[in-house]
Amino acid sequence: MSDPIVIERSAEDPAVQIIRFNRPEKKNAFTRDMYRTMTDALNAANSDAGIRVTVFFGTEGSFSAGNDIGDFLAAAMGGSVGLELIDFLYALVNAEKPLVSGVDGLAIGIGTTLNLHCDLTIASDRSQFRTPFVDLALVPEAGSSLIAPRIMGHQRAFAMLAAGEAFTAEDARQAGLIWKVTSPEEVEKQALAAAAKLAAKPPEALKIARDLVRGPREEVIARIDEEARHFTARLRSDEARAAFEAFMRR
Ligand code: COA
Repeated sequence: MSDPIVIERSAEDPAVQIIRFNRPEKKNAFTRDMYRTMTDALNAANSDAGIRVTVFFGTEGSFSAGNDIGDFLAAAMGGSVGLELIDFLYALVNAEKPLVSGVDGLAIGIGTTLNLHCDLTIASDRSQFRTPFVDLALVPEAGSSLIAPRIMGHQRAFAMLAAGEAFTAEDARQAGLIWKVTSPEEVEKQALAAAAKLAAKPPEALKIARDLVRGPREEVIARIDEEARHFTARLRSDEARAAFEAFMRR
């Protein structure tokens, strides 16, 4: 069986690290192991001068269907939530080098909110961004309740994060969630080209520019922690268990 997360370097530019979600049979839903592998790759990039940019890709038609609902159900049944998801979120916030994503198709839950931590996202015109947190009796995560209203305003952030409305790629571009929309065939090419351009820039100046544009990490971390307290409590609620069971039974 192939690895559900593949870490590689761009063939065109070895300074570009690629984190590829590779569990297409489950629409690239993230398991705890997958988070762990991604966290290690993000943290490694911080201390490896040979890596200047990290790029996230999924597979054809699926960026990610979000957290594995089977893992949510296990936690709802009294199992451990584990630290893998929160460690991954911290690693995203603490990334010291640019993050680029290339989205083709489904981007659900953290498949959407991950892009709030990316600096440049290119999505195919068939992509769909959706965060059905409340429908699953959960609450927004990944600092999205702080970052999304800032970039897209209250109403669009509410429509996405609380009402669970689907955003097309064009909606997401207009909302400032992503940078560009292109064809499915072009997504990876354009994302890698954007990453290679960043990788060629003076890294120290780029790091300072990025930090200035992103703003303080502490407030994002504090919001992630606040969201996580609610998220963990909701995960163990009867209404969440019922929603996970309904999905697993389909
Ligand atoms: N967790 C676990 N398994 C998932 C999953 C998830 N988040 N998303 C999809 N899968 C699995 C399905 O159970 C199915 O597995 P099976 O073939 O063993 O039955 C497989 O991936 C394919 O999904 P399927 O639902 O058949 O494909 P689809 O194209 O009809 O629908 C989705 C795709 C993503 C719209 C649908 O699977 C879905 O709504 N998934 C849940 C998304 C979600 O709520 N994520 C959590 C956000 S917080």
